[in-house]
Amino acid sequence: MKVIKVSSLAGASEALPSGGNFNGVYYFDAEFAYLEQIVSKQQTILITDENVFEIHRQLFSGWQTIVLPAGEQHKQQATVDYIIGELITKNADRNTFIVGIGGGVVTDITGYAASIYMRGVKFGFIPTTILAMVDASIGGKNGVDVGIYKNLVGLIKQPEFLLFDYALLKTLPDHQWINGFAEVIKHACIKDAEMFAMLEAESIESFQLDKNKLAALIEKNVQIKTSVVVNDEFEKGDRKLLNFGHTLGHAIENMYQLPHGHAVSIGMMAACHISASINNFSADDLKKVKQLLEKYHLPAQYDFDKDKIWEVLKMDKKRAGNSMNFILLNAIGHAIIQPIPMSELENLIH
Ligand code: GLY
Repeated sequence: MKVIKVSSLAGASEALPSGGNFNGVYYFDAEFAYLEQIVSKQQTILITDENVFEIHRQLFSGWQTIVLPAGEQHKQQATVDYIIGELITKNADRNTFIVGIGGGVVTDITGYAASIYMRGVKFGFIPTTILAMVDASIGGKNGVDVGIYKNLVGLIKQPEFLLFDYALLKTLPDHQWINGFAEVIKHACIKDAEMFAMLEAESIESFQLDKNKLAALIEKNVQIKTSVVVNDEFEKGDRKLLNFGHTLGHAIENMYQLPHGHAVSIGMMAACHISASINNFSADDLKKVKQLLEKYHLPAQYDFDKDKIWEVLKMDKKRAGNSMNFILLNAIGHAIIQPIPMSELENLIH
């Protein structure tokens, strides 16, 4: 993975591992306009959603653009069909480059549509939310939901590049900042006790006020996620750890139309409780996770219909026969993969 610092903003990025399918480029602290240095304007089609398009209309000037309806409810096959129709109308061929500009819904759906159009054209992303910058745009998993089943259909294909323009975050609403910090806290819980302690000392507001601090945080999280996926692109081992909080989280997200970060936050608390009851996760660490989530304005509990959730959980991609690979914590910064028999999990959920 090649890292290019387009400007000299102090960040924490270190050399990132590359190899396999990871030969893309990360452009950190770049401006959106830098895109013209990366791709040919004539041979590129941008895909975004109506929210991003409305707020940043001037950035799209002169670019062929497909604008999607905004929101997770549109991360469905019908939107992919719409994109394919638009690509045909715009005469896209195998040399066309597609760039997804937006949050996780846009990057997931763009990566998928680009990967299947004419059996695959090249694509890159400009993530516009914290969540997409630290998580959703990285790793190559892309696809769509099927009804309430999150990411049930898709494939893994890596983007050619990611461009990080932190200025795009200036207009990001507070609830989206909160959303993104759920994944940052997840990374801290599973991989980085030091970052967990740093987050305890900071706040969303302190990152919003200090561009250097924010850049360092984003680059650190990009590094954590990238290192995990480069070593396990197809989720045979360590990549499973990134699912911490996501098993229950995904089950409740679409059923209750929760923001992804809220669903993951509730899922992480549930996983911490399970960690405390069947693993050696301490009461003290459990309390610290709860306090950190609350400090970043994330919910630590939710009153969901356990029977209904159980029905959705059974369809989770992480189920393997009679057990589910659940991600638990031994301690803050140390996650493990624990197969839990479905019957035991049913009791734990209830
Ligand atoms: N696109 C998100 C991931 O690969 O994890």
